[in-house]
This record gives sequence, C-alpha cells and structure tokens, in this order.
Amino acid sequence: MKKPDFTASFDIADAIRHRLVSYQEIIRATENFNEDNLLGVGSFGKVYKGRLDDGLLVAIKVLITQVEQAMRTFDAECQVLQMTRHRNLIKILSTCSNLDFRALLLQLMPNGNLESYLHIEIRPCIGSFLKRMEIMLDVSMAMEYLHHEHYEVVLHCDLKPSNVLFDEEMTAHVADFGIGKLLFGDDNSMVSASMPGTIGYMAPEYALMGKASQKSDMFSFGIMLLEVFTGKRLTDLMFIGELTLRNELPEQRMAMNDVVAKLKGIKKDYTASMQAMQGPRQY
Ligand SMILES: Nc1ncnc2c1ncn2[C@@H]1O[C@H](COP(=O)(O)OP(=O)(O)O)[C@@H](O)[C@H]1O
Ligand SMILES: [Mg+2]
Repeated sequence: MKKPDFTASFDIADAIRHRLVSYQEIIRATENFNEDNLLGVGSFGKVYKGRLDDGLLVAIKVLITQVEQAMRTFDAECQVLQMTRHRNLIKILSTCSNLDFRALLLQLMPNGNLESYLHIEIRPCIGSFLKRMEIMLDVSMAMEYLHHEHYEVVLHCDLKPSNVLFDEEMTAHVADFGIGKLLFGDDNSMVSASMPGTIGYMAPEYALMGKASQKSDMFSFGIMLLEVFTGKRLTDLMFIGELTLRNELPEQRMAMNDVVAKLKGIKKDYTASMQAMQGPRQY
C-alpha cells in the first residue's frame, strides 16, 4: 500500500495549530466582521479574511449558531480537518467555540475558488489544458488520500468547483467538509437522511436515497472534471444523451486511485507530445 502523502515540512500553521483564539481576537482580526474582509458567503455563514494578533493572515469561517444544521457542519468540518493532512487539503488552524458563537480558522487561500475562475472572472492563469489538468490532479490526489490512504475512509459529499480553493502558487486545495463523513470498519457506504450535497453534482443514489460512498464522490468528481475541461456548467444542454453521467451505475465508476494514475499518464503523454511538436532543443 502507498504511504500517505503527508507534508513533512514544519510551517507556521503548525505553530498555532493548538492555540486557542478568543472571540475578542476574532473581532479584532475581522475588524468587527467588516464586509470589506468578506471572502465568501456559504450556506451557513460567512468567511472573512483576518489578521490575528501575531500578524498571521487567516480565513475565518463564522457559522450561524441559531441554525442547528450549521452547528452540525461545524462539528463535521472540525472532525475531518483535524484528523487529515495533505498538501491539497485545506488546513484547519484553530477554532473558536462559545455558547452562541462558532468559528473555524482556516489556512487562507488568497486566490479564491475554482467556480469563479471557470464562470465569473475567467482568467488566463487557468486557461491552458495543462493548468486545468494540474488542478484536477491536485483535487484527485487529495481525494485519493481521503478514500484510499487515510486510516478511515473520508467522504467529502460536496465536491464542486466552489469548494476548490487556490493558494499563492495557484495550487488547488479541497475545502468545505461541512457535510463530510467518515466510514468506519468495513463499511463502504452509509445512508444519511440529513444535509444532502449540491443538486447537479450529487450522484443519483445519493440524491434519491441518501446513499453516500466513495462512488458518490466519484460521480461529483466526474461532473467537475467535465465542467473544468469544457468550461461549461453542467446545466448546459451539451450534457445530455451520450455525455450524461447519470446512466452509469455506481460500480461502473472508477476508483480515485485509478483516476490519479490515469490523469498522471495523460499529463505525461500530453507534455511529451508538446515537446515533440516544438522539436529538439537548440543549445
Ligand atoms: N480558507 C479560505 N480561504 C479563502 N476563501 C475561503 C476559504 N474558505 C472559504 N472561502 C470562501 O468562502 C466560500 C464559502 O466557504 P465554504 O467553506 O465552501 O462554505 P459553505 O459550506 O457554506 O459552502 C468559498 O467558496 C470560498 O470562496
Ligand atoms: Mg462551499
């Protein structure tokens, strides 16, 4: 079995990993939740950029505590992020949990999410086939770790472009484990009645019967792959007939480790053919 892809280097995130952050410090960091510091709005709260007292810039995901589901997403996200570690997964730095306030402090992703690059502010930095391939390889390696290399199988259950975030170097990180789930022992699926994923990305068996498994994550990954390489939203009319993934049975879907191998092979062949087209190097 392959060894987990842990990032070995010590970084500043490790230094504050167990540091508790108070509500007052979060108020200071976000300048009293100033909308100018808003990074994104999610289903159960808002995400702000903030500078902690020691100068570290972080993302602060503040949950609406009046909603019971929001509290459950907080617990799920804490549980998954605290037990996982991979270069393509978002890192949790700390949490702040009071009676009526919950916030997750996350590694800041200064370059936004994949959804906005694909459909809102299309930028040349993700325009090439190779860059898109690298993004999907990053995502697939994070998912391979969760599905095949982590000691307990972790399901994401909400894979989609707005949950893929970019760091300074435009390396992709999988985020948003609010409805992530753990599979225990020999289980290879679980039935969940609450909090389904996102329409369009959810596998039919997950949407209809709440059956979450590695295969349901694979469905969402497949939809995202089509979206990234065509640049079209899945609601587009081109995704009907032969191009629909919906007729495929869960067991026909590839496993994440095979996808990683396949994407690496395609990338290698593509790079070699581009080099061959450019001819031998002149020195
Ligand atoms: N660590 C982060 N760094 C930068 N932006 C973030 C970060 N986490 C979330 N965001 C922004 O906030 C949005 C919503 O966050 P997300 O964790 O996906 O919440 P939700 O569960 O409500 O969808 C993301 O799509 C992204 O644009
Ligand atoms: Mg999200």
